[in-house]
Amino acid sequence: MQDEIMLKLEHVVKSFPGVKAVDDVSLEVKKGEIHALLGHNGAGKSTLVKIISGAYVKDSGTVTLDSEEINLTSPQAGIKKGIGMVYQELDLIPDLSGDENIFLGQNKFRNRFGLIDAQSRRREAERIIQNFDIDIDLSLPVRKLGVSKQQVIAIAKAISREAKVVIFDEPTAALNNAEAECLFGIMKKLAGQGVSIIWITHRLDEIFETADRVTLMREGKWITTKEIGQITMKEIVTELTGVTEEEQISTVNISNKTDEKLISCQNISAQKLFQNISFDLYRGEVLGITGLIGCGSTEIAKALFAVNKLSGGEIYIKGKKIEHFTPKTAAQKGIAYISEDRKMEGLNLKGSVQNNIVLTMSKEWSKLGFLNQKKEKESAKEMVETLDIRISDLSQTVNTLSGGNQQKIVLAKWLLKNAEVFVMCEPTRGIDIGAKREIHKIIRQLAKEGKAVLVVSSEVEEIIDTCDRVIILYDGRVKGELLSKDCAKKKMLDTMYGI
Ligand SMILES: Nc1ncnc2c1ncn2[C@@H]1O[C@H](COP(=O)(O)OP(=O)(O)OP(=O)(O)O)[C@@H](O)[C@H]1O
Ligand SMILES: [Mg+2]
Repeated sequence: MQDEIMLKLEHVVKSFPGVKAVDDVSLEVKKGEIHALLGHNGAGKSTLVKIISGAYVKDSGTVTLDSEEINLTSPQAGIKKGIGMVYQELDLIPDLSGDENIFLGQNKFRNRFGLIDAQSRRREAERIIQNFDIDIDLSLPVRKLGVSKQQVIAIAKAISREAKVVIFDEPTAALNNAEAECLFGIMKKLAGQGVSIIWITHRLDEIFETADRVTLMREGKWITTKEIGQITMKEIVTELTGVTEEEQISTVNISNKTDEKLISCQNISAQKLFQNISFDLYRGEVLGITGLIGCGSTEIAKALFAVNKLSGGEIYIKGKKIEHFTPKTAAQKGIAYISEDRKMEGLNLKGSVQNNIVLTMSKEWSKLGFLNQKKEKESAKEMVETLDIRISDLSQTVNTLSGGNQQKIVLAKWLLKNAEVFVMCEPTRGIDIGAKREIHKIIRQLAKEGKAVLVVSSEVEEIIDTCDRVIILYDGRVKGELLSKDCAKKKMLDTMYGI
């Protein structure tokens, strides 16, 4: 089965103003294979799969599905042809039930009076879901289901019309390890049934167990396609980053921790979210907080920026107890908060790159009068260079940037503001390995310069790479604390799982 070609792209091109997002890409996807698609932020991966799914129309080139040339003009047309796509931000309607979502817009299951035959619809949905060995109550509105179950509904939707190709764009970004494993099981099962899977991810360690072949893209171009057994992680990283093996070996973090407490939390609790958490964050230190999704780590970070209200305990900033804490006072006291959800909390998506970067400084600089504009432009430019943000120019709107570049802009904003304590939630989620390293370097650099950084991350490698010390949570409570030199991956994972 695995030698039949299911999908063939030839010389596909797609441009946006100022950028050739997909530049002459030719690629074959076999029937029943799991084909990983890798590349840096902005490499053109999402654009390419959107062309395949029908969400974007290509400028030129051909797409052949099952020996038939196709020219899709909408995702609905794609689903009809058997091409389904599962987006990272799942496109489900929260108030509709599972089976309503699965068959939305398909105009199926009408009885002879033209009315919806809800029973057959439910039965058919159950048949699809059964495939996955997961217990889901299809009658519930999907907002009541957890992320991973919602994802299963989205997958069911993508394959509801006898899918030939299913595309996943960064599906594991919002999943914990166990949920991701479950998803890999589903992918393998689909592939076993002859469905071709195209899978975009930045988490390279995942692909070696699950993918059959891998394609690398750089700056819109196809670089190579290899059997998974014929390429190593190091080779992939070298291809993607242009950094050689020797340079990749990470050094053990040399701590710059001082004795000065910048933040001290004493017995803080927030109803149901976390209980009796105490820790100190010192100048020059990178402190990690980790645990499984739902462990309370993000909620603690939010409490440090007064987004979450405490139900007990105290927070001290530089030895002073904080009363009437609001996000505004937190920012004034030098705390930067880089949220998990950059789209909702961190950015003005319709604003330009420059406006977003200088946003928090504009007021202060407006005193500069006519020099203000120059200062804004220069500072934004400097940040774009420091963080290697890929843009066509400073006036580009942020919503046209790739996910990774958006995250860098959030970081730039706070770097410019010169905050002293950086609270970062999942700072490199959805960011490619090259940019990730840069951000990890920046985190270490901040500590070296005498700032303090709190890194909240569910990625064990990220914690090991960046932190001097890590607090591990389980179900809203501290389960353990480790110094970076003792941070073996296995030990951390065991503690995270409450073992
Ligand atoms: N709708 C759009 N309008 C303008 N430019 C776009 C649009 N969509 C993508 N681009 C640009 O095309 C290029 C490729 O972006 P794309 O989203 O395909 O990258 P990606 O490989 O998926 O990156 P990431 O890993 O960050 O998701 C980027 O330079 C991006 O800014
Ligand atoms: Mg993308």
